[in-house]
Amino acid sequence: MDLGLAGKRVLVTGGTRGIGRETVLAFARAGARVVACSRGGDDAADSLARELKGLGDGHRVVAADVTDATAAAALADTCRETLGGLDVVVNNVGIDARSPFEKLTEQEWHRVVETNLTSCFLVTQAALPLLAEHGSVINIGASAGMRGRPESAHYGASKTALSGFTRSLARELGGRGIRVNVVAPGVIVTEPGGGPPPPVADLIRAVTALGRLGTGADVAAAVLFLAGDVSRYITGVTLNVDGGI
Ligand SMILES: NC(=O)c1ccc[n+]([C@@H]2O[C@H](COP(=O)([O-])OP(=O)(O)OC[C@H]3O[C@@H](n4cnc5c(N)ncnc54)[C@H](OP(=O)(O)O)[C@@H]3O)[C@@H](O)[C@H]2O)c1
Repeated sequence: MDLGLAGKRVLVTGGTRGIGRETVLAFARAGARVVACSRGGDDAADSLARELKGLGDGHRVVAADVTDATAAAALADTCRETLGGLDVVVNNVGIDARSPFEKLTEQEWHRVVETNLTSCFLVTQAALPLLAEHGSVINIGASAGMRGRPESAHYGASKTALSGFTRSLARELGGRGIRVNVVAPGVIVTEPGGGPPPPVADLIRAVTALGRLGTGADVAAAVLFLAGDVSRYITGVTLNVDGGI
């Protein structure tokens, strides 16, 4: 199905590895022009830039720590210079984290909330002046965060808060034709040999309706759906992409 993404101008945060990378490449293959960021300093950014070059011109991979307001503003400036505006923002940056609640430090709480939630606020606010009417903002949540998981109060709080952020912003921006949604992945294996250890993976398969773990491409497909005009009447939702856990 043609999702009508050719020529769309897309920002993906945390685009150099994992789900973000799959998403960047899927947009580029669909004919969109993409700016991707990471904190940089590793080979992943260089290899993504090379792979994107093979898919066409007009893409850019830049270093930006999206927990920092100044860096988020500079990232928006890069989108303006490179793409001339934005049609789609994918707030993909996020970290998994576990800690028994009694041992959860204030520092770790802030690290997780700033990475998973505050980054989304900073990037969306900086990108908003660039977002075209009929733009789409897609925030990457987590189905485990929504369901609740032991030793994950900080993670669950940050990911669940994304849905509240999204529902409120969907109402505020709907009048401008801008849609805001969450994609909430389940357990996703993004590289060969990655994911949970075999006994845990078996347990997860057993409680998953579709009987398998997810892939980055599974999540990217849902993101592209919410970015395209086929989902034009969908806003404020959290779409679980977890195989039916
Ligand atoms: N994988 C799963 O099973 C799963 C399940 C549920 C939800 N999710 C969610 O899906 C999203 C992607 O997860 P993933 O597993 O694909 O992550 P990942 O493989 O760890 O990749 C994270 C990406 O974000 C970048 N990044 C991290 N912190 C950043 C920051 N402060 N500023 C800019 N870039 C930053 C990383 O690059 P640098 O480190 O170089 O900055 C990398 O490109 C996250 O929101 C995660 O919570 C994942």
